[in-house]
Amino acid sequence: MKKSANNPARSLSKETEALLNNQIMMEGKSSAQYLSMASWCESKGYEISSQFLYKHSEEERMHMLKLFGYVNGAGGHALQPEIKGIQHTFKSLREVFDHVLEHELAVTASINNLVDHTLKNKDFATFNFLQWYVNEQREEEIIARRAVELFELIGEDGVGLFMIDQEIGKLEQFGQKMSGGGAA
Ligand SMILES: [Fe+2]
Ligand SMILES: [Fe+2]
Repeated sequence: MKKSANNPARSLSKETEALLNNQIMMEGKSSAQYLSMASWCESKGYEISSQFLYKHSEEERMHMLKLFGYVNGAGGHALQPEIKGIQHTFKSLREVFDHVLEHELAVTASINNLVDHTLKNKDFATFNFLQWYVNEQREEEIIARRAVELFELIGEDGVGLFMIDQEIGKLEQFGQKMSGGGAA
């Protein structure tokens, strides 16, 4: 593996660059999928869930852009990902949040894999950069688990779905509290 001092043009190995571009693809896909979920919720009248997911979509785009800056700043080339396979319709509000949890767990696994790679290759700069994502995923998992839990706690009958939608609006605050402040 090339050490940064050995290459004046770049501090990233090609392999690390490819893994970071894969992460860019995951964040871009998250942003697109959450936008699609927000639109479905809005069309079904789940107003607060919709607002939550529109905002989440923006945040995922920010996660992606942060990686663009890092990769290009380290001498690599960040690539705009091809986004395919977006789900547009859902059976229920619960299915939306089941997908959110599943998706966030996959993103965490991908971040962990990247962090492991940087340690093995002694790329401490990228390791350090990725700690922000480690913290962010901890908070996002707390939020996604709580969202799924709401369906069990409140139940979907009667005014249940309306109440769940209201509670979704408090998730971000809950995530910050339970993760000890969490990522910015
Ligand atoms: Fe993300
Ligand atoms: Fe996320």
